[in-house]
Amino acid sequence: MSSDEWKRQAAEQALAHVEDGMKLGLGTGSTAAKFVELLGERVKAGLKVICVPTSEATRAQAAALNIPLATLDEYPALDLTVDGADEIDEDLRLIKGGGGALLREKIVAVASARVIIIADSTKLVDVLGRFPLPIEVVPFGLGSSRSLIERLAADSGCEGEIKLRTAPGGAPFVTDNGNHILDCSFGEIDDPEALDDALKLVPGVVESGLFLGIADIGIIAGPKGVETLSAIESDFEEEE
Ligand code: A5P
Repeated sequence: MSSDEWKRQAAEQALAHVEDGMKLGLGTGSTAAKFVELLGERVKAGLKVICVPTSEATRAQAAALNIPLATLDEYPALDLTVDGADEIDEDLRLIKGGGGALLREKIVAVASARVIIIADSTKLVDVLGRFPLPIEVVPFGLGSSRSLIERLAADSGCEGEIKLRTAPGGAPFVTDNGNHILDCSFGEIDDPEALDDALKLVPGVVESGLFLGIADIGIIAGPKGVETLSAIESDFEEEE
């Protein structure tokens, strides 16, 4: 089975958590797109849901499938968000933002009662950081923001190349919010919470791609089948 098929398997299992009448957040990326595709089939068959997309790309995909769309201004609290991730550790801490949608993804996820992350097993890591950490920054003062990120990240034990993401053609990549992305190759991030706290001190940083304490369930499909990670279960195990 290919990674594409694993993504679809994870998306299919997430669909089982969707109930009639729910307000849903729709993630961004190739895995989330599989979920949107399957959701579109259910909507066509009569399922009633209202969805808030996390990017213009997802909005376009959902609109083409006639999935009813709304904004967080209309529905500030959602029942469930289903999204992908670039990396997942066993505590359901994530790196997101490979697709550049991390800010809207985090806003939508935090507005949701439950967050399900769907992924193929290549995304599972022991320690976050193999995937360069995306950080969304405002264009103004980019050079200063980059230097400050470098300094504060080093104080929390993270060093490595910080690259301004570019679009095809070489111009800086621009997010749906008009910002840029710095991709930080820090390698293993031993203390993601400390790094995230440090990044919040940089005025030009809008958000980091570290999603900590946000995901409730991880549905991971791979060669050994589909594995479900639950934030509640891992808390419970720790207490025992
Ligand atoms: C989008 O900004 C990201 O957070 C995606 O959720 C992440 O990049 C996963 O994308 P794929 O499902 O395409 O790997």
